[in-house]
Amino acid sequence: EKGGYDYFMLKEIAEQPKAVADTLLGRIGTDGRLTLDELRISASDLRRVDKVVIVACGTAFHAGMIAKYAIEHWTRIPCEVEVASEFRYRDPILDDRTLVIAISQSGETMDTLMALRHAREQGAKVLAICNTNGSTIPRESDAVLYTHAGPEVAVASTKAFLTQLVACYLVALYLGQVRGTKWGDEILAVIKELGDAPTHIEQVLETMEPVRELARSLADAKSVLFLGRHVGFPVAMEGALKLKELAYMHAEGFAAGELKHGPIALIEEGLPVVVVVPSPRGRSILHDKIVSNIQEIRARGARTIVIAEEGDEAVAPYADHLIRIPATSTLLQPLVSTVPLQVFACELATAKGHEVDQPRNLAKSVTVE
Ligand code: M6R
Repeated sequence: EKGGYDYFMLKEIAEQPKAVADTLLGRIGTDGRLTLDELRISASDLRRVDKVVIVACGTAFHAGMIAKYAIEHWTRIPCEVEVASEFRYRDPILDDRTLVIAISQSGETMDTLMALRHAREQGAKVLAICNTNGSTIPRESDAVLYTHAGPEVAVASTKAFLTQLVACYLVALYLGQVRGTKWGDEILAVIKELGDAPTHIEQVLETMEPVRELARSLADAKSVLFLGRHVGFPVAMEGALKLKELAYMHAEGFAAGELKHGPIALIEEGLPVVVVVPSPRGRSILHDKIVSNIQEIRARGARTIVIAEEGDEAVAPYADHLIRIPATSTLLQPLVSTVPLQVFACELATAKGHEVDQPRNLAKSVTVE
């Protein structure tokens, strides 16, 4: 049942191109526009939405953080994202013009379920993004967009995460399409680019041997830091979460701009720091800023592991290890930049002799609050 792989996690990482392709299937029309009638929320209701609130836990929360960048950029609707366990206890402001998006692989996460119940009680419409047909969260929501990752068995979420990202992009683009923002042309170009994502992910998977080798060489590291900016920030947090849950190591994901406000004090000789570099095209200011961050940490002794786009030469002089990913538009980069981090955590945990499919103290679906 592991399809020739030693662990479900390895199998699920390898299945990502297909999971992403399946999640896109049937959702892009021949005219290049999205067809999401399955949402069953009318265009006029979507045009009335004046705030989006995303609730989720763990890896699904990181997908939600990325969705916020996409939603605000393409739709200009304010978007908040919060871990579900905090959300309802702070008396959030919601009404019938709020669209709440609950993201959950299992559809059974109690924290997320309680958050969506609270949202519906306040009159908000709830859209579930879920991987499990007929589970509780989609059943209790007003609408659902299923991810088609197939069953995810390993406790650490991989293919479900990439498909959650796809679903989030689809929702953001669809909201933009329905509401007709000034980004119309960009939206069409991104829908087209989404279709290339499975090939891009495949390309990353084919070049992972040096990442595995690097991970094995770091089995004795005490801590690993992850830095990113913009959508690379949630990717950094996801890389750190994977390492915590699988390798039982101290790992933190930071917004690179926050370094100088504290975390830079952690940098010492030999500390591995993974940096997710935004595309040098697009918002190039982000790229320039992160190049200086890499220089700053390297000057203080960090061992820099840099994930950067093919052809980005500016980072090369400061990278002790350079991991290449295909060029994408700024907002879609997480679909490729997350993959090396999954492989890294899985290999490092295996090198430490840990059971990657079933890490200690964790359950696949957390059905208690
Ligand atoms: O089933 P859900 O997506 O609601 O689960 C949410 C989290 O419990 C889950 O993503 C968890 O953080 C994973 N073990 C991360 O790999």
